[in-house]
Amino acid sequence: MERTMNKVIDEARQGEVLVKESSIPAGKKFYLESYGCAMNFSDSEIIASIMIGMGFQTTSTTDDADVIFLNTCAIRDNAEQRIWARLKDFRQKKRKNPSLIVGVLGCMAERLKIELLEKEKLVDIVVGPDAYRDLPNLVSAAGSGQKAVNTLLSREETYAEISPVRLGSNGITAFISITRGCDNMCAFCVVPFTRGRERSRDPESIVNEARELFEQGYREVTLLGQNVDSYLWWGGGPKKDLPEDKAHAALSHKLPEEEQKQFTTFADLLDKVALVNKKLRIRFSTSNPRDMTDAVLYVMAQHENIAKYIHLPVQSGSTNVLEKMNRGYTRQQYMDRIESIRQILPGCALSTDIISGFCSETEEEHQETLSIMEWAGYDYAYMFKYSERPGTLAARKYADDVPEEVKSRRLTEIIDMQKKLSLISNKRDIGITVEVLVESNSKRSEDHLSGRSSEAKVVVFPRKNFKPGDYVRVKITDCTGGTLMGEALD
Ligand code: 5AD
Ligand code: SF4
Repeated sequence: MERTMNKVIDEARQGEVLVKESSIPAGKKFYLESYGCAMNFSDSEIIASIMIGMGFQTTSTTDDADVIFLNTCAIRDNAEQRIWARLKDFRQKKRKNPSLIVGVLGCMAERLKIELLEKEKLVDIVVGPDAYRDLPNLVSAAGSGQKAVNTLLSREETYAEISPVRLGSNGITAFISITRGCDNMCAFCVVPFTRGRERSRDPESIVNEARELFEQGYREVTLLGQNVDSYLWWGGGPKKDLPEDKAHAALSHKLPEEEQKQFTTFADLLDKVALVNKKLRIRFSTSNPRDMTDAVLYVMAQHENIAKYIHLPVQSGSTNVLEKMNRGYTRQQYMDRIESIRQILPGCALSTDIISGFCSETEEEHQETLSIMEWAGYDYAYMFKYSERPGTLAARKYADDVPEEVKSRRLTEIIDMQKKLSLISNKRDIGITVEVLVESNSKRSEDHLSGRSSEAKVVVFPRKNFKPGDYVRVKITDCTGGTLMGEALD
């Protein structure tokens, strides 16, 4: 039965799923382009696994693709504008080849399903981050000329047992997703709307994935979640029976021992993954200043193979702005977290996220951001201009009233500050020896290798007889703001 466009869009509005049998002729190819955060890139590996399971092959060019997927990001307006521009690139291709299927997946699909389907007939499939298991039905529906949509969010989906297909991998480093969604409701952030409620993945499936990766030759895994510190798994029965206050106490390791044992917190998980093998280096992202416990820091201190690096987004250095952002900590509380890190993990590297020009941010408040950066001495930072996202708390409650040129000027000051701090941090490393996990040849020259130290700094050094996957002790002799240069000792 043919469905009209309006009917399909109506169903999309109601969150109904289109279901059809899948039958993919041999030799069909899909092309997948990913945008946004590491979590999205990790999702692309699930998407690839499902598509290959259907009989598709991957292709690295759009020219011979039967299906083109964009796995999109909605975090800032410019991320979405890039996708619209990219979709227009494909218009000509669709005219030449009417059977070409173009799909928008991920966060933007969740946010803009109706517009995506209506606008200029650019898109055939729209799939939200929790609906990738439905791809066989959706691709098949699109193949028979129908528009296919599934943007249902789930409270359970973690794709736990789907083996990701490692895309564009260097064979050494890989992502493992440990939670999905976010319950934090930071005022500026669209993620709770695009990725839904937070849920944790079964620890056993995480440890198994880490073990399999190690056996395949991988030497570093990054555990991913919007807020890794709220990871919580309960082995005591169906989730619906778990009272909220118990979960809360378990997260901060405050239950009596016997009861606490039924739970796996992030600290417990980190410990389990670190025990997979001493030669497997563990990273994680993103930590949350409100939720990070000392227990995590102690586990990091216990295991040499857990990287001494924490990404701890501050967003702003002003308590007033933090309160409006609904971040759940003050400037002082954030500084106290860093003090604990310094005490328990001396030398641990720190990076952060910063937003310039959030609603009504004053010049003094901006200065507080610069001063907390200097105080923390971040090794690295990701810095953004505030971009209002429809539907968020900030969009509903506050005016986006910092003029564009003021946002830009403040962002430039923040970037200049970070450049200074990164250079100081790198210069401090000259003369010390770091352990580098080699990832690849250096871009600069065939005679050099490139890798990262435990502190996540990029290190380049003459190759000698080393190769990707080796751990090498490198004495640092020189640096730029972004790279350390050195000589291998071993
Ligand atoms: N505008 C600008 N930056 C944002 N971020 C999240 N939402 C917005 C927004 N609306 C930044 C935050 C977050 C990082 C992933 O992106 O700094 O930590
Ligand atoms: Fe990742 Fe957030 Fe962008 Fe979604 S909106 S891809 S969660 S950064």
